[in-house]
Amino acid sequence: MNRHYAIGLLAIIGFIAAANSTSINLCDGVADNIFVADITNCSNYYICVNGEAIAQQCRYNYSFNGKTQSCEASDASCLSCDPSKLSSVGLERTCNKYALCFAGTPVLQECADDLQYNPNLNACDYPQNVDCVANRCSIYDSPDSIVYAPSQTSCTKYFVCMNGQPQNQTCVGGLQFNAVSNQCDRPANANCTIAAIPKSRSSQTAAQIAPRMVDINCPSVGIQQIAHQNLNQYYMCVNGKGALMTCAANLFFDKDMGACRRKEDILKKY
Ligand SMILES: *[C@@H]1O[C@H](CO)[C@@H](O)[C@H](O)[C@H]1NC(C)=O
Ligand SMILES: *[C@@H]1O[C@H](CO)[C@@H](O)[C@H](O)[C@H]1NC(C)=O
Ligand SMILES: *[C@@H]1O[C@H](CO)[C@@H](O)[C@H](O)[C@H]1NC(C)=O
Ligand SMILES: *[C@@H]1O[C@H](CO)[C@@H](O)[C@H](O)[C@H]1NC(C)=O
Ligand SMILES: *[C@@H]1O[C@H](CO)[C@@H](O)[C@H](O)[C@H]1NC(C)=O
Repeated sequence: MNRHYAIGLLAIIGFIAAANSTSINLCDGVADNIFVADITNCSNYYICVNGEAIAQQCRYNYSFNGKTQSCEASDASCLSCDPSKLSSVGLERTCNKYALCFAGTPVLQECADDLQYNPNLNACDYPQNVDCVANRCSIYDSPDSIVYAPSQTSCTKYFVCMNGQPQNQTCVGGLQFNAVSNQCDRPANANCTIAAIPKSRSSQTAAQIAPRMVDINCPSVGIQQIAHQNLNQYYMCVNGKGALMTCAANLFFDKDMGACRRKEDILKKY
C-alpha cells in the first residue's frame, strides 16, 4: 500500500480518542495507604487515600520501589524507557495501569473496564487471566482486620493480604470462597460466578502483540489513539511518533474510549 493512500485511509477511519494520561487517576481502584510510583520521576511517588493520589517525595535522593513499597538507596527498580524500542511495564500495585515506553517517553495508560494489566503479555487482559489483587494489600493493613480478596480465576481460591502482599489460599472439601462472609462456604452459599472467557483460536505471546513503530502521519505534539481497519488493533501517536498496538485475545479497540475492551462492553453503549 502506498504511503499517501495509507494516510488518506487513516484520515477517513481515523478517530481521535479523548482519553489521555492526564485524565488517569493513579489511585482509582487502589486501596488506602498503598504507594504508587511516579513514572516520570523515580524519587517521587503517590500515596492513595480515599482514591486520591497525594504526591510524596523520597528523602535523601532515594528512589521509590513499588514492589517493596519503600524508598531505597538503589535506583535499580526505577523505570527506564529504552529510547530504541517500544515496551510497556505494569505499574506496581495498581493492577490496571502501566507505563508505555514510547521512544524513550513514559506514557501512563489504564486498562478499560475491569481489565487488568497482564505482565506475561504486556497488555490489558481479562481479569480471569491475570488475577491481580495487589491493589488491595497495603503494608499498613492491621493484623487485627485481615483483608481478603476473592480470586478472579477460580471460585475455590482467594487471597489474604499479609505484610502488604497477597498470599493465595485454597478452599478444600469442595468449598468455595464466599466474598461476603470472607470464608470458605458451600457453593450454594458462596454465590461465586466466574465468567468464561471466549475461546480464542490460539494462545497469544507477548511478542505476537508487542507494539511496533509505524510510519503514520501523527500530530507533532500530544497523545492520540486512532482506529485501525483490524478491529483488535489501533494506532497510537505520541508527540509525532506512531505505533501499531494490538489488543489481547478477544479484546477490541473502542475508539470512543481509546482502549481495548470486550466486545460486549463496547456494544453496551449503544
Ligand atoms: C524529580 O523530582 C524531584 C522532586 O520533586 C526534583 O527535585 C528532581 O529534579 C526531579 N528529577 C527529574 C529528573 O526531573
Ligand atoms: C543523587 O542520585 C544521583 C543519581 O543516582 C547521583 O548522581 C547523585 O550524586 C546523588 N546525589 C546525592 C547528593 O547523593
Ligand atoms: C500460590 O503461592 C505460591 C507461593 O507464593 C506459588 O508458588 C503458587 O504458584 C501460587 N499458586 C497459584 C495458583 O497462584
Ligand atoms: C448472589 O449474587 C447475585 C448476583 O451478584 C445477587 O443478586 C444475589 O443476591 C446473591 N445471593 C446471595 C445469597 O448472596
Ligand atoms: C489531555 O486531556 C486534557 C483534558 O482532557 C487536555 O487539556 C490535554 O491537553 C490533553 N493532553 C494531551 C497530551 O493530549
